[in-house]
Amino acid sequence: MHKLENREEQSGTLTSVMAALWTLILVTASGIQAIDTSHPRNSAQHHLIKKLLQKYHKEVRPVHNWSKAITIHLDLLIHAVLDVDAQNQKLKTSVWYREVWDDEFLSWNTSMFDEIRELSLPLSAIWAPDIIINEFVDIERSPDFPYVYVNSSGTIKNFKLIRVVSVCNLETYAFPFDIQNCSLTFNSVLHTVEDVDLAFLRSREDIKHDKKAFLNDSEWELLSVPSTYNILESSAGNFAQIQFNVVIRRRPLVYIVSLLIPSIFLMLVDLGSFYLPPNCRARIVFKTSVLVGYTVFRVNISDEVPRSAMSTPLIGIFFTVCMVFLVLSLSKSILLIKFLHDEQHSGQERPLLCLRGDTDGDGTRMDPRTQLAGATESSSSCQEQQVQSGTLKEVWSQVRFINDYLRAQEQADQQEIKWLALLYRFDRLLFRSYLIVLGLYTITLCSLWSLWSGL
Ligand SMILES: *[C@@H]1O[C@H](CO)[C@@H](O)[C@H](O)[C@H]1NC(C)=O
Ligand SMILES: *[C@@H]1O[C@H](CO)[C@@H](O)[C@H](O)[C@H]1NC(C)=O
Ligand SMILES: *[C@@H]1O[C@H](CO)[C@@H](O)[C@H](O)[C@H]1NC(C)=O
Ligand SMILES: *[C@@H]1O[C@H](CO)[C@@H](O)[C@H](O)[C@H]1NC(C)=O
Repeated sequence: MHKLENREEQSGTLTSVMAALWTLILVTASGIQAIDTSHPRNSAQHHLIKKLLQKYHKEVRPVHNWSKAITIHLDLLIHAVLDVDAQNQKLKTSVWYREVWDDEFLSWNTSMFDEIRELSLPLSAIWAPDIIINEFVDIERSPDFPYVYVNSSGTIKNFKLIRVVSVCNLETYAFPFDIQNCSLTFNSVLHTVEDVDLAFLRSREDIKHDKKAFLNDSEWELLSVPSTYNILESSAGNFAQIQFNVVIRRRPLVYIVSLLIPSIFLMLVDLGSFYLPPNCRARIVFKTSVLVGYTVFRVNISDEVPRSAMSTPLIGIFFTVCMVFLVLSLSKSILLIKFLHDEQHSGQERPLLCLRGDTDGDGTRMDPRTQLAGATESSSSCQEQQVQSGTLKEVWSQVRFINDYLRAQEQADQQEIKWLALLYRFDRLLFRSYLIVLGLYTITLCSLWSLWSGL
């Protein structure tokens, strides 16, 4: 019994060992098989690509009937606005560009190739349309996309992200409330519309309002991308053309804070200087300080305000006009002071100062009235001495001198009053023009802003 059990045990272990061995052999065999089928040469994809490209000539436009045009379906998604360069009239954008076309030589029966429905092929191996953007001026480093997708009915999808540096007519007069309209025109370089035609991949309404891919946190906001299809007629033939207009709008907040508000304050300070009397010397000092302030401000903002040869921003024009007013009123004040100073030297002294303490250097000069008083005093003491000598003639000449003096002073006073009145009138005129310009500035800015926000 013992032996029998032993034998049975032995045969049990034997069968288990054999089973383990067999499974090992099977696993290795299947492993070898698996290695064998994973070789690229044996994959269905390889067979398919080999079959597709064996007789393919990428030089041939992929249509069976040569007189039939091949239609390229285009699509454009604006990804980001990278730079708007008004000085060089260039726009740099990053766009998702999609081309889809049917290649009649690249189709297969899915049931013969392991139900493969879609396949990627190297772009360099197949025919591809020669579509360019007309406004291209600069090649930017864009990621390279070497593959295209082909499905079993021969539809080829070529998607890529490109950086476009394009020429654009940038208008800056409304800065910082400006809206730019730049176009990207796609057409074939060589093929006329009889060979290569263009069409939209999506509906034009969808393209116009699609902002899903747009990066929102830049200075520019995408408003819309309207598009048109047209045929360009030229001596070389008719070319199909698709134009996308990229309409973008600047976000002005940063410029309002750093440019408009300081500029308005400067103008108000300048306006305040008209409240100082025009014959006041402190006014010259004040106006000169404002002028220096303007200059410093203009130097500071020169980097922020876009410059272009064709159009100047309106705020730049307003600054120049304000400076003209400032310089006019400054030179008027200088003229006035000079005129009054000449008057002083011709024998009189007038108080030119509007501030009491501001008598620098003038304290040594005597008031004409005290001079006059001094003269009469000395003459009276003279009289005392000379009455005895009895020369009444001298007294008479003294009195005449006083009389002449007073008359000349009166005349000069009248002259001065005339001049002053004239200059006051001029000052008032300047003040009013300044107010009108400031009003115009405000109205223009407000209307630009409402135009900006209306779009
Ligand atoms: C695809 O191949 C299968 C089997 O080889 C055949 O039955 C079918 O008709 C083919 N289909 C087309 C569209 O040729
Ligand atoms: C291939 O793609 C095109 C466009 O997306 C589609 O119309 C067509 O039905 C697809 N063919 C197959 C076999 O899926
Ligand atoms: C943009 O410009 C094109 C012509 O270049 C014009 O047809 C289109 O109306 C303009 N769009 C806007 C919103 O100004
Ligand atoms: C940008 O904003 C629009 C709506 O204002 C939104 O539909 C879109 O998804 C945003 N894009 C990104 C990248 O956040």
